[in-house]
Amino acid sequence: MRVLVIGSGAREHALVARLAADRDVGELVAAPGNPGIARMARTLPVDVANVESILALADREQIDFTIVGPELPLSLGAADRFAADGRLLFGPSAAAARLESSKAFAKAFMARHRVPTARFHTCRSLDEGLAVVRGGEFDVPVVLKADGLAAGKGVVIAEDRATAEAAIAAAMGDRKFGAAGDCVVIEECLTGPEVSFFLVCDGHRAVPIGSAQDHKRVFDGDRGPNTGGMGAFAPSPLVDAVLEARLVREIVEPVISGMAVEGHPFSGFLYVGLMLTSSGPKVIEFNVRLGDPEAQVVLPLIDEPLLPLLVAGATGELRQSSVRLGRDRLTGVVLASRGYPESSESGQPIAGLDAAEAIEGVSVYHAGTARRDGRIVTAGGRVLTVVGRGVDFAESIARAYSGVLQISFDGMQYRRDIGRKAFASTNASEDVRI
Ligand code: AMP
Ligand code: GLY
Repeated sequence: MRVLVIGSGAREHALVARLAADRDVGELVAAPGNPGIARMARTLPVDVANVESILALADREQIDFTIVGPELPLSLGAADRFAADGRLLFGPSAAAARLESSKAFAKAFMARHRVPTARFHTCRSLDEGLAVVRGGEFDVPVVLKADGLAAGKGVVIAEDRATAEAAIAAAMGDRKFGAAGDCVVIEECLTGPEVSFFLVCDGHRAVPIGSAQDHKRVFDGDRGPNTGGMGAFAPSPLVDAVLEARLVREIVEPVISGMAVEGHPFSGFLYVGLMLTSSGPKVIEFNVRLGDPEAQVVLPLIDEPLLPLLVAGATGELRQSSVRLGRDRLTGVVLASRGYPESSESGQPIAGLDAAEAIEGVSVYHAGTARRDGRIVTAGGRVLTVVGRGVDFAESIARAYSGVLQISFDGMQYRRDIGRKAFASTNASEDVRI
């Protein structure tokens, strides 16, 4: 089979690395890819915001099966366009991708199908938004979410009403997020540990492929601004077999059957972002793709060929109810450029990649990198994810950071505490020194 992976991040590098090991994969093409991916797949340029150019590439390269990494092409209808052309693609239709691309849709859908989530009010005008914030419907802190895709920047947790009013005015008055903020969801602030749960779906069935915990804030101790993710570990010790069964029963099954009943069956990767509150697990968000950096720690644990699973998802023929998962623990540390997440430098030479990868149990996935004059240089905010594999979290964390210590570039920043919260919920020793 000729397989095409769309995207250019460390998530797509992890996908390509996983697929490269599959027997059924004849040729692997990635677009646009990155220098790390280029060692495992042929890379070709493409504009991921242009569905027609993705389809033209698949035609030209006679691709049998396409896997889309990021949400943008899916929300723009890549799956619909491929289906109309009779080409196989793993990912949801634009209508099904609204679980991620419209928070107002996702919340109303959850209400219709009794999926546990934070209490909410969807506001469609500045006046309505201000009235809800000033009224007594929600205590502070209160959470405000721009309806549309806003590159991870559309959520504000306002500690007081003045901050909430300012956020409403910025989104709905000043149109800080463009059309994405013309509708704002206001919701109650939940507390509890956050976990992510991943599934492969075929429109009518869903198979869990693992859990993870992300570290969204830029600085140690979960301080500083939100980022795309500074590190992750898998599996989450909080998601045991009992909780997993509950998540499937209370959340996944109503979502899959609800989407099918409403005429938009969901196929593709489903990422359920959850908060484990004192009154049970509640959905914070859905994503219609794998997470980044979660994919880098979830995919290597799948202990069976990935391609047949994804093809079954795309063709509606998912017969298995579970996948075999390895028993190891994985920790991924993101190395970012100076200035991330507000801005980012580029063009800094990166040293030590080979030395890091030479360490047993260490893998390095590229994101914002470029090749210039034969050298690998930085080219974006999140540059690399260094993943350590071990028999327990202590070993996987130690390995990840031993890889990190080999790598250097000017302005390199990373968190020193990735994975530490894996110990908070277990009796394991917290004695990991970095
Ligand atoms: P999202 O972009 O929906 O993933 O939200 C970004 C982050 O905001 C989440 O990872 C949570 O940490 C936080 N968040 C979102 N919704 C809520 C909520 N209702 N209560 C508390 N925190 C939230
Ligand atoms: N790491 C969070 C995400 O991929 O959305």
